[in-house]
Amino acid sequence: MTTIRICTALLFLMSAASAAANRQTVLTHYLTAAQETPSAERGRSLWNRSGIRGRNCTQCHGRDLRRPGRHRRTHKPIAPMAPSGNPKRLTDPKKVEKWFRRNCKWTWGRECTAQEKADILQWLNTL
Ligand code: HEC
Repeated sequence: MTTIRICTALLFLMSAASAAANRQTVLTHYLTAAQETPSAERGRSLWNRSGIRGRNCTQCHGRDLRRPGRHRRTHKPIAPMAPSGNPKRLTDPKKVEKWFRRNCKWTWGRECTAQEKADILQWLNTL
């Protein structure tokens, strides 16, 4: 019984550690193309910045990123953006890139720069 419990705890710790390592890898990918060290403070203000036609990132992801969001148009729920509320978040480079491309275009009318993505990830990773 105790062995099973210890194994479960170890597995949990190992998967949490590898998710954190994957988030770091995703961030490093953008950092190689960014000009400056990433800033969580800049990331937070980018997230709240108003884009085209008054759009912004919180409109679908919500104000409290530890809680689920809701798609502005389809009203479908969106899982929490904060890794603390959703350990799979920001661990898959293809998924991160795909949604940055879509959402930056929709919200800001253009793609985000590598610097902006690095800043936003730096901030999200603290949540
Ligand atoms: C119109 C609704 C909408 C807006 C506005 C929006 N998003 Fe999203 N976003 C989504 C949906 C839907 C997903 C994919 C579903 C999911 O991952 O739960 C997603 C996923 C993401 C992901 C991928 C997360 C992961 O786990 O890899 C990132 C990064 C992201 N959004 C960033 C942004 C940023 C930055 C903005 C503002 C510039 C933004 N989003 C605005 C709907 C939106």
